[in-house]
Amino acid sequence: MTTKELKQKYLKFFEERGHAVIPSASLVPENDPTVLFTTAGMHPLVPYLLGEKHPLGNRLVNVQKCLRTDDIDEVGDDTHGTFFEMLGNWSLGDYWKEESISWSFEFLTKELNIPIEKLAVTCFAGDEDAPKDEVSADIWKKLGIKEDRIFFLGKKDNWWGPVGNAGPCGPDTEIFYWTGDGETTSLDSAEDSGQWVEIWNNVFMEYEKTLDGKYVPLKQKNVDTGMGVERTVAVLNGKNNVYEIDIYENLIKKIKEISVSPDENSVRIISDHTRASVFILGDQRCIAPSNVDQGYILRRLIRRAIRKGRNVGITEPFLIGLSRIVVEENFQDYPELNDNQSFIEKYLRLEEERFLKILNEGQKESYKKIENISDLNERVNSSGIEVLKPAKISFDLYQSQGYPIEMFIEDLKEKIQIDEKLADDIEKDFEKLITSHQQVSRKGAEKRFKGGLSDESNEVLRYHTSTHLLNEALRKVLGDHVRQIGSNITPERLRFDFPHEGKLSDAEISEVERIVNDVIEKKLPVNFKIMPQDEAISSGAIHLEGEQYPDQVKVYFIGESLESSFSKEFCGGPHVSNTGEIGAIEIYKQDKIGEGKMRIYAKFKE
Ligand code: SER
Repeated sequence: MTTKELKQKYLKFFEERGHAVIPSASLVPENDPTVLFTTAGMHPLVPYLLGEKHPLGNRLVNVQKCLRTDDIDEVGDDTHGTFFEMLGNWSLGDYWKEESISWSFEFLTKELNIPIEKLAVTCFAGDEDAPKDEVSADIWKKLGIKEDRIFFLGKKDNWWGPVGNAGPCGPDTEIFYWTGDGETTSLDSAEDSGQWVEIWNNVFMEYEKTLDGKYVPLKQKNVDTGMGVERTVAVLNGKNNVYEIDIYENLIKKIKEISVSPDENSVRIISDHTRASVFILGDQRCIAPSNVDQGYILRRLIRRAIRKGRNVGITEPFLIGLSRIVVEENFQDYPELNDNQSFIEKYLRLEEERFLKILNEGQKESYKKIENISDLNERVNSSGIEVLKPAKISFDLYQSQGYPIEMFIEDLKEKIQIDEKLADDIEKDFEKLITSHQQVSRKGAEKRFKGGLSDESNEVLRYHTSTHLLNEALRKVLGDHVRQIGSNITPERLRFDFPHEGKLSDAEISEVERIVNDVIEKKLPVNFKIMPQDEAISSGAIHLEGEQYPDQVKVYFIGESLESSFSKEFCGGPHVSNTGEIGAIEIYKQDKIGEGKMRIYAKFKE
């Protein structure tokens, strides 16, 4: 079974059962500051899971590009990766457990021809927040899954969501595929042999976790399922890791061709990180490498790929060549990769040049420092942690110049010939410093990420509607080149990114504020209309350039009617129902965030 076949079969199967195919959303969640990347197909659907009406109805299916970076340092083994595609089907307050489970069973056993003996499932065991899911277990039994292949597990295993601190979530039933040879084992966490591989997850989203940690029933009962494409293709083809499936073939072949001594682990890291970087750079939102947020993750991915490239003996710039394979093989499903190919190559080139410079300059610094070390075993205190002095030196080099620990260790070996044990200890102490530093920044990030659109607090809704007003007002004052290229809302403020050369003058800012506050004062109604995409575009509704939209779209308009509205914009919602609910806002900060890109911050006036 090829990747393409699996995707086609899945979409067709659910289309035949009344599901509308929706395009893959951006890798960067719009209006959701709780996470940096889209980590599951349900992510862009949060407003609809919370009760907003979806323009294509209440049965949806798609293939979503996703990125998970929690295990970024484990990439290279058999199970971890960053970028992947997820198949998903959704019921927005429509069908429930019976249909969902039966269809999953039918798809696996009839369409993919998986023998029932190779399947096992888990269901939610129940706790103080929700009851034991006997209903799902009974449906599985009725379908022919033997009782000893049905396991009940707790929240840690059989509960999904919310994505951030708050939002839709619920118990799930997970489907596992047996990849072992001998007798099957139990799926109870303690006895699980790791030979059962999870391939599908059906979440019954009937709860919303609130910011104060309570689980309250949602307005509607939803089903959210997710199946990892690469992993499923791997098990179906009897492979024990995703790097052996079709989509990696050409990429890996090319890496091996240009390497001198390709070890498996480095080759896998280069392929995963290249694929992820191409999809981030080539995303609808065109993310460039930087030192913050998504841009920072991208930079880490690119730099790690380059470092691994050096490990396997690649001395020339190589990422552009590899990126072309990824674009070539994926642009049919993701046309944005084609549209953004020059952007992808430009930043790969810049980043590769920049990083090679860092490596060369960092090396000079590193040599100098190494010459001055008198005692390799000396211990020093750094922010309350006692570490080996070389670890502290390496940490400082990393912080100031981005010079990697691996390079520093190599320099040490070259200049002083240290043994492996000491090299390990230095690396461990370096990690300690990094972890302690990350904890400090994570605390900051948690504060920053509190809330989100999954948080439908009044503040968030008011800021969301203000964002539409601001978008329109900026266009009126600065020109039609203004469009949203990023947005981020917390209960404390809104942030809006748009293309513009240079900072706004005081007069321009006052004029934008005046226009927005004027509309707020006029107490205009906020409504939406679901309409065909081409009609929506010709009505002049603002939309994201390059974004793939479905045939039917939802347009939010602010004013008495769509025609006479102050602002009309493609958007999933939710919003306040009248601008009078917002209260005056002020722009309190602006930053230039890149070549021709501005970012402004606004909050309610005290
Ligand atoms: N959200 C669930 C997951 O990511 C099901 O789609 O597994």
